[in-house]
Amino acid sequence: MTDIREAFEAAYGHAADGVWSSPGRVNLIGEHTDYNNGFVLPFGIDYRTSAAVAVREDREIHLRSTFAEGEVVGNLDALTLESMSGWSAYVLGVAWAMADAGVDLAAARGLDILIDSDVPVGAGLSSSAALECAAGAAFNELWGLGLDKLAIARFGRVAENKAVGAPTGLLDQAASMLAEDDHVVFLDCDTEEARPVALHLKDKGLGILVTNSNVEHEHATGGYGDRFASCAKGAEALGVTTLREIGADDLPRAQELLDDETYRRVRHVVTENQRVLDTVAVLAAEGPTAIGDLLNASQASMRDDFEITVPEIDLACDTAVAAGAIGARMTGGGFGGSSIALVPLDKADAIASAIRTALSDAGMREATIFTVTPSQGARRDH
Ligand code: GLA
Repeated sequence: MTDIREAFEAAYGHAADGVWSSPGRVNLIGEHTDYNNGFVLPFGIDYRTSAAVAVREDREIHLRSTFAEGEVVGNLDALTLESMSGWSAYVLGVAWAMADAGVDLAAARGLDILIDSDVPVGAGLSSSAALECAAGAAFNELWGLGLDKLAIARFGRVAENKAVGAPTGLLDQAASMLAEDDHVVFLDCDTEEARPVALHLKDKGLGILVTNSNVEHEHATGGYGDRFASCAKGAEALGVTTLREIGADDLPRAQELLDDETYRRVRHVVTENQRVLDTVAVLAAEGPTAIGDLLNASQASMRDDFEITVPEIDLACDTAVAAGAIGARMTGGGFGGSSIALVPLDKADAIASAIRTALSDAGMREATIFTVTPSQGARRDH
């Protein structure tokens, strides 16, 4: 990443008051469970989005980035959803969400903001949540709002839902705000209680290999919304508000009541919630070397029941496991994006090259493969 303080001065002609940053995320397990009020188990990655910010005298928000030309200007007295577009909606949308929820911004001063990021975009690693959370953390401190991390995460989600228009849950923003070094965040999306769970990857000589399929996903349109709708349809037919309320015992009844496709969508959510709980239990009892079967079962469920994987991801996961990974699964919303493999670090290079060869032999698009380290959530850097 560029030296963001220098870049800020070059852009605005004066120094920043501070720099805040927040990470992208990998979800270890628990996919499409968040908007069904279920369980998720993500961690923050060592790829971050930074916001260098200085307070202005007026109420304008000036936004620049190191990745797009020009300046976007918003005004705290005229924040409307209609006026927001492109990447700046993720930042202005957070301020809008705060104001819309009644957070008192009457005394808030305008801001000059420069954004820099090394979170890959369109890779299913939540570059958008990293941006929302870096901005939210800066707003919170500079405007003296006194919000806790989860509250900032919620405003990031509202920005995503309303300003960007994707019907997503709290997973990404909660991970970006609450992440800790070498831990996953266990979040109950119903009660919104969260706690860190130790991973102990380093102790066991393990790492997480990310394979970005370079097949780009888009959650504001298409399959993600269809899955959201199928889950709502399944819940309604079963007489519950969310799929969180049903368990494995209810599946025979669900199979009788629902069409086959909706049933398989429901079965994914129900079994995935249980896999998250099992992963938390196995991590505590036996450690990360024992969670491989759960990761692989989640991948199979996303592939066969929820049908959100793509052939590039399926092949990467199968190849990783055949080449010695402990387990592998797609991570994130699906329809492209990334998969993860839990690997012994001394086998990481061999597993990566097996994936490259398999994709190339199948005539598929080249992937970008790298390791990630579970890292700290939103923070003030300077
Ligand atoms: C995307 C969404 C999340 C979550 C995942 C699937 O990342 O932003 O809220 O639904 O997909 O688990």
